[in-house]
Amino acid sequence: MTHKVAVFAGDGIGPEVMNEALSALKIVENRFGLSMSYEAALAGGCSIDAHGVALTEAALKVAKESDAVLLGAVGGPKWDDPKSTVRPEQAILGLRKELGLFANLRPIQLNRHLIGTSTLKPEVLDGVDLIVVRELTGGVYYGKPSERRNGPAGREAVDTIFYTEGEVARLMRASFELARKRRKKLTSVDKANIMATSRMWREVAHEVAKEYPDVQYEDVLVDAMSMHLIRRPKDFDVIAAENMFGDILTDEASMLAGSMGLLPSASLGEGKRGLYEPIHGTAPDIAGQNKANPLAMILSTALMLRLSFDREDAAAAIEKAVDDVLANGYRTADIAQPECRLVSCTEMGALVREQLQR
Ligand code: IPM
Ligand code: MG
Repeated sequence: MTHKVAVFAGDGIGPEVMNEALSALKIVENRFGLSMSYEAALAGGCSIDAHGVALTEAALKVAKESDAVLLGAVGGPKWDDPKSTVRPEQAILGLRKELGLFANLRPIQLNRHLIGTSTLKPEVLDGVDLIVVRELTGGVYYGKPSERRNGPAGREAVDTIFYTEGEVARLMRASFELARKRRKKLTSVDKANIMATSRMWREVAHEVAKEYPDVQYEDVLVDAMSMHLIRRPKDFDVIAAENMFGDILTDEASMLAGSMGLLPSASLGEGKRGLYEPIHGTAPDIAGQNKANPLAMILSTALMLRLSFDREDAAAAIEKAVDDVLANGYRTADIAQPECRLVSCTEMGALVREQLQR
């Protein structure tokens, strides 16, 4: 069986890291007897330049007909005009919504070789192993109205957070199922002291929790959570959060792993199809300079192999290869350490392939 993969390299460092990821996949295909076909399409700023919109119907069709989507990153200063009605980010939001990818899994594991690159104390970090399940197709990202207008007091603007109970329940179920396979602890994040959506979130979460008596459940307010994440990150296993809280907390949590350049993510819906992308952005400051860290993109392909194609063997091989390269002391600029060897994006990719071929 051939797995169809839609490839959106995107903008900035996206194409550079995607190249290394696809080259790693080639090796994995041979080694594990996998068959994959790739179809490239445009999303983000590159699509705005070529077609005037961030995601064309044709590009969306490529994604819809695929078994999995790989996404680099989209956006950049070139398309940042706040007055523009077309924005690169519309591509990601469109893909997430149109593919029904409501659960965004962001695993945060400390890589021991990188403990020194974090600004946090090693004893706080050692052993961190948590996963954020971020709701991805609701909340303020999609709520209407969302607009600027002129009112009696001059310029005004409004955004809307909207959730249905069904949206909350399915996200909570996905989170509880995941917790069951891990350390059986779930922390649900909200702002129930202020927001109506959070009060409903909590109510529904408690109802779903009754179906999972074997999982230890707690509610934590988002502001307190941002503190606990830094103070005692080892206490957390699975963290469920609505779209924007999850967005903010995962940038914070990425620092628990040393660098954003290392963190993959998986966005899943009801079926097996997923979208896999690094947590990091397009890093316009280093784009085109062969300095980017391709490891998050490479690790995203491991999540694809595991979650969409059920190939734990191939996924684990990629993760081990990355770990071995780091253990051997190779680092891209973002995770540079004094005694380590500084390598470029393409060199890092080659090192991972070398390990994969062993
Ligand atoms: C992320 C990013 C996106 C988001 C942006 C680029 C739209 O920050 O995936 O976390 O806010 O969801
Ligand atoms: Mg983000």
